[in-house]
Amino acid sequence: MTKGHILVGITGGIAAYKTPLLIRLFVKAGYEVRTVVTRNALEFVTKSTLETLSNNPLNIDLFSAATENGIRHISLYEWADAAIVAPATANCIGKLASGIADDLLSTTLLAFRKPLFLAPSMNENMYLHFSTQKNIAYLQAQGIHIIEPEEGFLACKAQGKGRMAEPERLFSIVDQSLHPAATAPKRKALVSAGPTYEAVDAVRFIGNRSSGKMGYCIAEALARHGMEVELVSGPTHLACPRPDIRLTRVESAEEMYRETEKRAKDADVVVMAAAVADYRPAHPAPNKLKKKTAHLTIDLEPTTDILKNLAARKRQGQVFVGFALETDNEEENARRKLNEKNADMIVLNSLHDEGAGFDVPTNKVSLLLPKQESIHLPLMSKEDVAEHIVNEIVNTLIPKE
Ligand code: CTP
Repeated sequence: MTKGHILVGITGGIAAYKTPLLIRLFVKAGYEVRTVVTRNALEFVTKSTLETLSNNPLNIDLFSAATENGIRHISLYEWADAAIVAPATANCIGKLASGIADDLLSTTLLAFRKPLFLAPSMNENMYLHFSTQKNIAYLQAQGIHIIEPEEGFLACKAQGKGRMAEPERLFSIVDQSLHPAATAPKRKALVSAGPTYEAVDAVRFIGNRSSGKMGYCIAEALARHGMEVELVSGPTHLACPRPDIRLTRVESAEEMYRETEKRAKDADVVVMAAAVADYRPAHPAPNKLKKKTAHLTIDLEPTTDILKNLAARKRQGQVFVGFALETDNEEENARRKLNEKNADMIVLNSLHDEGAGFDVPTNKVSLLLPKQESIHLPLMSKEDVAEHIVNEIVNTLIPKE
């Protein structure tokens, strides 16, 4: 039995070379796929590739031979359960936002009143252009799902935002939306993210460079997999990734411990992605410290190891995931952490690779699980790293019911 009918639209952007993989993921999962392309899309991907992978004839022109049942754009709409346009160029987004229908794809989209996903892909300047942003905001307000592009290397050789989300992520978003509980029953997840600030005096603190991005992406991926997510975050500039995620903001390691401890008992999955300070000033000054000529020594005391403390009380079936940032003997140290902290998985961050670590949009990690070979992932966006981590949690770690 088919899992559903997906209409895949492709417009003329270089990311179109990845869309055959998306089609394959849908077909492999049991969906039936039909594809509509613009003429420009065929500059980047071939008719025979798309027809072979989708097992269906390609739809290109409004006025080519009639379909098996009537007007082509209407029959495609009636047939589909959902549509995704990947890549969606600035032109395609602009046309839909202004109601222009001058080819088969734009005409089909204008007639489409079912879940519609657009995966924009373009140069960063085009993506951030006020016109594109206005169109995207307008389409979102109409209930169209925009799958935000990622930051990374763009085809124009620049680094920036505008790279189409990877096919695995696109597939998972559409699949989860059509079959919300398909990959995970409604479970509870707790995620910590961001840095902690440890007060030195009334205005100064000791912190670190964590942006919180990795933890926020994990919270988003867990929610996408149907979980109820609590996100406890240190200070970041990031907005709550989804309206259904409950975000609690904290500052210090102690506050983070208090807020996570309250929620850990009920959680099925706990992911500690926060860069928690290991030490804090032992005697923070209530007022602002005055400058003196002599050296200043700050006495530091250890903070509570939140992961270790919470995982020590792990109950049957609960899953704990921690992070490790190592510079020497990386795997050995991270494996020791896995043991000492009673975790079920450690995500090992590499500091040696360009593009990995703090305050960058990409990451390169290895997933370490007990009694199992480590999984080394290549450099990818933090959104994709999150998707891999959550897939591992859902497929390997959570006990099957
Ligand atoms: N962690 C925590 N509470 C702390 C410190 C760390 O919960 N007080 C968690 C982090 O969220 C992360 C993991 O533990 O999941 C990191 O382990 P940690 O031993 O802190 O790593 P490092 O700080 O890199 O340790 P070390 O400096 O000893 O290598």
